[in-house]
Parts: sequence; structure tokens; C-alpha cells
Amino acid sequence: MVEGEEKFMRIGVVGLGYIGSVTSVALAEAGYEVVGIDIDELKVKSLSAGEPPIYEPGLKEMLIKNSKKLIFSADYGALKEADYIFVIVPTPNKDGKIYLKYVEDAVENVKRVNKNAIVIIKSTVLPGTASNLMRKTGMTIISNPEFTKEGTAIEDTLKPDRVVIGGNDKKAIEEVKKIWEFANSPIIETTNENAEMIKYASNAFLAVKVSYINEIANLCEKVPGCDVEEVARGMGLDKRIAPYFLKAGIGFGGSCFPKDTTAFMSFAKDLGENLSIIESAVKVNKNRILRIIDLLEDKFSGSEKNIRVGVLGLTFKANTDDTRESQAVKLVEKLLSIGFKVNAYDPMAKIKLENVELFNSAKDCIENSDAVVIATEWPEFRELNVRTGKFVIDMRRILSLNSNSNLKIVGHYG
Ligand code: UGA
Repeated sequence: MVEGEEKFMRIGVVGLGYIGSVTSVALAEAGYEVVGIDIDELKVKSLSAGEPPIYEPGLKEMLIKNSKKLIFSADYGALKEADYIFVIVPTPNKDGKIYLKYVEDAVENVKRVNKNAIVIIKSTVLPGTASNLMRKTGMTIISNPEFTKEGTAIEDTLKPDRVVIGGNDKKAIEEVKKIWEFANSPIIETTNENAEMIKYASNAFLAVKVSYINEIANLCEKVPGCDVEEVARGMGLDKRIAPYFLKAGIGFGGSCFPKDTTAFMSFAKDLGENLSIIESAVKVNKNRILRIIDLLEDKFSGSEKNIRVGVLGLTFKANTDDTRESQAVKLVEKLLSIGFKVNAYDPMAKIKLENVELFNSAKDCIENSDAVVIATEWPEFRELNVRTGKFVIDMRRILSLNSNSNLKIVGHYG
């Protein structure tokens, strides 16, 4: 909580997508008055009415609770009185390279209405981006990447493991440090470039960690007596390794890891460096889906056209409605392309998939399928009765080992 006269310090947020809406609401919860801007009027309307544009546990309640401290608008003019303005707009890839137009436009628009504001870039941008923008616009820019996971985004924002603040203006750095004082987290004060690099190196490292354990899972499947869950448990108790991001599964997806690893590799290539470990991690991730296809083809070889595969879970992980770059969706596409029929069920996803029969319950989806793949670790799948004699591939390792004799638990030699 910010004390005294700074209590109602006005903070601006440009971009009300996933991270932008969570950051706005979390900063209001921390005691600030927040003005959130988005060019999408629908998002602005929805947030103003107390309805977040995305599903995130606890977000709606916190939005309503703090509604008096939150103003949402599609007009940049509303940022006139904000001293600190976060830029949290998307940085997608275009032809394998980062596309910066949204960030550039946001900074230009902020400059137009409030050239003395301190701009704080939270969008994931490659090293050198903030410095280039400072040269171009003359604005003071601080780099403050986020390390927020969907599903625990509020907690991650209010109490991050660390806050990284990069810049070349000592006074601005001190002021931004003050904004995050409430979190009581360790603060890394550094250059803009280091801050930008820390974000990519962290995401890529986590992607590598996931692919590493998935590759060990591939091997465990072929070694009698080996079970990757046990192996990961034994590894994770070593403090140097740690148990997080060591869960073998269907591979990483989502709006960040696939996009950021691609942009990072291409950035390195332009500098004459090959990020070969990250390259391998991406390859292992792609192969994870092909292994499922191999298992199904082995089992049903020649009769693919008559086989309905039920895919349980379409989101890229549990506790989100996000299907961006979801391995489950990629699996569905691959299954269809080689002739399988596909059923699917997900408790949250709103995605429409051509040629896929969507069910309203996991039970119905299983009953109408010849084989089942558990692709997302939704807790409700744990309770499933798979004693149906169906061929089940549990990519998230959530079913009991003894529940079905036809169960193929990935990473376990059965
Ligand atoms: C990720 C990072 O974890 C955040 O720190 C970062 O801020 C964010 O990207 C971003 O750049 O904005 P998120 O995309 O929400 O967050 O998802 P994660 O929880 O990291 O999961 C990524 C993928 O890896 C998921 O598909 C998940 O199922 C998979 N995963 C994760 C595993 O298969 N095993 C694990 O042990 C952990």
C-alpha cells in the first residue's frame, strides 16, 4: 500500500489483454488509481461493467472490489494525468520475427498526450527495443518484464519472485521501484537490455526444462521399471534442480513459450549465434505430439477412418480458457489430417474446431470415442472412470496406473 500523498498516485496501463487487465486490477488492489486504455471498445466496455475479457481465477471479484479505483477508456487522453504508464500490448511474431508495431504505436500515442510520463514497458520485447524507442521518441523508458503465469496471474503480480527494473535514468528507476514496493519482492535493478534479456532467457529456460523432462519421459517409456514421475521427483528434491517445470506432459504451449523461443532464436541468428539448446527444446516439443500419433497408428493401423479419438482438454494447460498454441489443438489438427475422426471436450475452451464433434461432458466424449487422449490436466479428469476397455493415452499423467489395462501412461513403462 502506498502511504500519504502518493496514495492515489495515478498509474496508466496501455493494453487490456491478459497481462494488462490483471496488472490494472492488481495495481488497484495495491492502492493505486489506475487508468486502463485499450483501442478495443468492447474490452473497455466489458471491464467497465465488471466483466474481465478473459478467465482468470479471482480476477472478476478483484475487479469489482476495486471498481472505484479503476477507469477504463478507449481514449489515450485519459492518460494525461498519469505519471507512470505501463505499456502491455501484444508482441506477436510475423514471419518468425518479433512484430513491434503495437509497442511503437503505444509509445507514440502516450507521447502525444503526456510526453513527460515515464513509460514502463511490460510487453515482452527483445534486448535493445527500449533503447531504440528512447532514441526515436525522446521518452524516458523503463523495462519491467512480467513473469506471470495464467491461472495464478494475480498472485504472481502481487507477489512476484522478483521484480526486474531496467533503465538508464536513475531517478525514473527509483520511482518505478517505489510502485512495486508493496510486493516486498527482491528487486533487480539493471539496464534496459539486461531486463529484456532476463525475460527471454527465463521463458526459454523454462521451455527447455519442460522439454528436458519430456525427453527423459520418452526414454522412460522404453525402459522396463522406469517411471518419469518418480524420476522427476528424485531429481526435483535436489535444490539445484528444483521440482518446478519438471512435469512431463504433452509439451508446452500457450501465448508465450512458443512465440518467445521463436523470436529469441531468430534474434540470436541475426547476431550470428545459434541457440542450439532452445532449438532442440522446440524440436522435442513438436515430436511429443507425433509420439501420440505413432501410438494410435500402431494400435489402429489401417482403420483410422473408422476410429474416433476423443481428446479431453483443449486449453494449453488447466485453469485457463486459453487455447493459443495449445498442443491439444495441434494434436486435433494432426489427427484430422491423417484421417482419424475426432471428438473433444473441454470445460472452459470456447474454441470452434472444424470437423470436430464437441461434447458437453468428458463422460459423453469418452462413451462416443474408440480411443481417448487426455491432453489437459483439468482436475475433473482425475475422477474419470476409464474402466471402459478403451485405449487411453494419459499425456498429463493424472489417472491412476491401475484404473485400466489399456491405459498408456506416457513416460511409464507398463
Ligand atoms: C509463461 C511463464 O511461466 C511466465 O513466467 C511468463 O510470464 C509467461 O509465460 C509470459 O511470458 O507471459 P504461461 O504461458 O501462463 O506462463 O504458462 P506456463 O504455466 O509457464 O506453462 C507453459 C506450458 O508449459 C503449458 O503448456 C504447460 O502445460 C507446460 N508445462 C509447464 C509442462 O508441460 N510441464 C511443466 O512442468 C510446466
